[in-house]
Amino acid sequence: MATLLLTGAAGRIGTALRPRLRSAGHDLVLFDEREPDGPVGDGERLVTGSVADPDALDVALAGVDTVVHLAGIPTEDAWDDLVAANLTGTKNVLERAAAAKVTRVLLASSIHAVGRVPEPEGAAGSIPGDRLPRPDTYYGVTKAAMELLGSLFADRFDMSIVSARIGAFGERPSSRRALRMWTSADDLARLVEATVALRDPGHHVVWALSRNQESPADLGAGERIGFVPVDDATAVLDADARAALPDEDMRWLGGALADVPLGRRAP
Ligand SMILES: NC(=O)c1ccc[n+]([C@@H]2O[C@H](COP(=O)([O-])OP(=O)(O)OC[C@H]3O[C@@H](n4cnc5c(N)ncnc54)[C@H](O)[C@@H]3O)[C@@H](O)[C@H]2O)c1
Repeated sequence: MATLLLTGAAGRIGTALRPRLRSAGHDLVLFDEREPDGPVGDGERLVTGSVADPDALDVALAGVDTVVHLAGIPTEDAWDDLVAANLTGTKNVLERAAAAKVTRVLLASSIHAVGRVPEPEGAAGSIPGDRLPRPDTYYGVTKAAMELLGSLFADRFDMSIVSARIGAFGERPSSRRALRMWTSADDLARLVEATVALRDPGHHVVWALSRNQESPADLGAGERIGFVPVDDATAVLDADARAALPDEDMRWLGGALADVPLGRRAP
């Protein structure tokens, strides 16, 4: 079993991953600039700090073998804030991980790195996980650049790095678009397990999506590193629940965020 550092552990995804990774037998270091909502349990160690602070990262990285880097701003926002949190923060995490000889890292990239790909371009299963970036926002630009940092550190330090293009994350699909782009918490935990199992150095850009029936995503890049998602957004909701889902802009992969004003905090 591994000892995993979860940056951004107090956030939505970190909170959902914690019990799943603990019940798989992993020990966790929880790192965030704010306290998590729930109590810190057995097999968990809390380090409060910012990814802007290399010393705090060094404390968090002690005894860790895999990093799951979630900390950052998860939506459109002011350019300088996004660059500081998402890009410089990721550079710091990778630098300190390399210095600590922690060689496996999952980076929380996003569908918004390719959010301006027109959805009609994607027949079912046709868009590869490592498609060339086509970001929809400044947020998406920071996620695409995060992937480049993953490539750089994998090459320079023989690290195994997964840039995970996460979709509409949630316990349940919450919009019509999420029927195609849902990322279930269980499937994301499966991708963490695949990252923990990596032994060869390299950088892998993959879809971190569930196996949604009508998704335009080609899941092959993830499958090649042992990530086999099993959940299907259509199957977890009955027909009435699906019909009641709110509509969302479906012109681009990035949905509604693909058309928000640049540089302003999006809801
Ligand atoms: N939720 C989604 O649907 C989704 C989709 C694609 C990608 N992502 C990415 O996954 C990651 C986690 O998303 P989330 O939904 O849990 O977001 P969230 O906002 O709920 O959690 C992010 C956490 O990071 C922490 N954080 C922010 N800046 C920090 C800093 N400088 N130092 C330390 N901690 C800091 C926050 O306190 C927060 O707890 C983000 O990087 C996001 O871009 C999320």
